[in-house]
Amino acid sequence: MNLKEPPAMSDGRLPDPDHRPWPWWPPARPAPAEAPQPSSDASYGRQVDPGALDVRHGVVLYLDNISVSFDGFKALNALSLAIDAGELRCVIGPNGAGKTTMMDVITGKTRPDAGSAFFGQTIDLTRLSEAEIAHAGIGRKFQKPTIFEHHSAFENLELAMKADKRVRRTLFARLSSEEEGRIAATLDRIGLAASAGRLAGLLSHGQKQWLEIGMLLMQEPKLLLLDEPVAGMSDEETERTAELFVSLAGEHSLVVVEHDMAFIASIARKVTVLHEGSVLAEGALDVVQNDPRVIEVYLGR
Ligand SMILES: Nc1ncnc2c1ncn2[C@@H]1O[C@H](COP(=O)(O)OP(=O)(O)OP(=O)(O)O)[C@@H](O)[C@H]1O
Ligand SMILES: [Mg+2]
Repeated sequence: MNLKEPPAMSDGRLPDPDHRPWPWWPPARPAPAEAPQPSSDASYGRQVDPGALDVRHGVVLYLDNISVSFDGFKALNALSLAIDAGELRCVIGPNGAGKTTMMDVITGKTRPDAGSAFFGQTIDLTRLSEAEIAHAGIGRKFQKPTIFEHHSAFENLELAMKADKRVRRTLFARLSSEEEGRIAATLDRIGLAASAGRLAGLLSHGQKQWLEIGMLLMQEPKLLLLDEPVAGMSDEETERTAELFVSLAGEHSLVVVEHDMAFIASIARKVTVLHEGSVLAEGALDVVQNDPRVIEVYLGR
């Protein structure tokens, strides 16, 4: 495969520098020795070592009193949330509750007006760029799959692995047998082993979503954020996605936002209900579903 040019995105465009679904693409060239430092602020312009993630207290993500306003409208209103290491957390809530905005804050796309966001005990997400947050070990799945349609499923995973800045290698180097094994294991995990050589553009909608998840997995994220991952999937694809997520929990922490309640019921452990930018209820699915405030929010409009 030709890795000299950045591969075109699913819709044929080159990655948009202002909104890159893959903050790590294109791989940055090493800065020349005389290059000025990006900032005097100690946490900017620095790679965060994912091995440094401190989850000794068992918490992988900690949001405290986060507020985000858009023209005076509070999309997030003193939102506080803690996700345990290895947890699979479902986040539900009506349209406009702030679910996507919460993910935007975690990934550095939106800066909070107030509050703090920590990845592990020590990594202050509000001080890192989107790319730094991705490299620190937070992977985000977008609603529209952002895969390279003109490359095979295998090559998509290869690209994702080679663009990982933690790995000191060039894009042109041959794959080692260990790397080939990692790609094969990931293809197997996402149910695409039999489609390894198939062009990504020819995969089904669900398979494309799984491929994007596979691309995230190649970067070994500690935390995966998945916004409406089963939207548009067939019932069978939805069931297989549920199995995949359940299998990923433990090894990874997952935050899953979904409106499909049958899907939520099939994966749910702890569920957080967001409403008007804050946590309305939290707990087991049957408990939050029977909470009169939650019923009011879902049915009372
Ligand atoms: N960039 C923005 N500018 C202005 N308002 C915004 C912006 N982003 C989000 N909002 C508003 O903030 C609120 C929360 O939006 P958000 O997308 O986070 O909701 P959501 O819970 O993800 O909803 P849905 O379930 O429909 O995806 C909405 O009222 C939305 O219109
Ligand atoms: Mg949303």
